[in-house]
Amino acid sequence: MTLINDIYNRAFKTLRVSLLSRCNLSCVYCTMGEDEVKENNLHQHPAPAAILLQQIQQLHSVLNLETIRLTGGEPLLYHELTELIKGIAATGISKIKLTTNGFLLERLAAPMKEAGLQSINVSLDAVDEDLFFLMSKRNHVQKVISGIDAAIAAGLQVKINSVIMKGMNADQVIPLLDVAFERNIPIRFLEIMAMGHLHDSAGNYLFTQEEILERVSRKYTFIKVERAKAATANYWQTTEGHRFGIIANESEPFCHDCNRLRLDSNGNIYGCLSSNHPITLNSGNDEAALISKLQQAMNQKQRLKFTGSNLSMLHIGG
Ligand code: 5AD
Repeated sequence: MTLINDIYNRAFKTLRVSLLSRCNLSCVYCTMGEDEVKENNLHQHPAPAAILLQQIQQLHSVLNLETIRLTGGEPLLYHELTELIKGIAATGISKIKLTTNGFLLERLAAPMKEAGLQSINVSLDAVDEDLFFLMSKRNHVQKVISGIDAAIAAGLQVKINSVIMKGMNADQVIPLLDVAFERNIPIRFLEIMAMGHLHDSAGNYLFTQEEILERVSRKYTFIKVERAKAATANYWQTTEGHRFGIIANESEPFCHDCNRLRLDSNGNIYGCLSSNHPITLNSGNDEAALISKLQQAMNQKQRLKFTGSNLSMLHIGG
């Protein structure tokens, strides 16, 4: 096995696969408005599962991946999702995870678990219906909550992801914590990342780790938990024993031990969200060509700090 790594001893162990650049929500950080989503939908031709599996297999043969995470766009809109999960399980990659907005989860949680999915992150930025609309341009937050409950009932490991934005949903920190704690599942709050249309303006919406902790402290007492290697989140534990995390891209970047590689739905790899330089995989790549492309992707990784890029998370997932 050839080791692709860098001077910081980073290696690719997690592959994040964006299944399609399409979403059934229109969240403020991903899209500027409805039109962008509609236009995107028209141009989308998702790759067949057989092609994605071939690309995943190709990467796994060189990298010996530990984890794969399916993202999008919204991965639950992908038509061959359970077939794809079964195919990934057969490659021997041991951990299969997925990130979703939860809208279609109630129906799909059990079939995905049966296909081999183990763990799921559900994005939920507000519990209050009006603020949920402000963040996602959709009603029916209850659909997401029912999805979370269905995923727990199906035996999936479930985490909640909440992006907190200044002037928008900061009042939701405590209600979101309560949703997670009532169900005994972890929640992570995310600082806004300078991606896509927010590349130059994310600073206006930054609600920092420190500010989030201040909000939590209005109801809970907590202590810091040690950070696991290559983890994205810092974690705390409340006196009652509940865990919450903060993904502090801005206040406390975690580039130094990042082990993630990204694959988009057009067969391009990216070593870093801060680099919008797609590297195209070809089915005809021999191993030497593939290794050289992976080394190129590794060289894209930032050294110290997340800077963001004009890549939309609608295209490349979180
Ligand atoms: N900043 C922070 N988080 C984002 N996500 C999508 N775009 C952004 C952004 N610009 C979140 C999604 C998902 C997670 C993987 O990334 O809401 O929960």
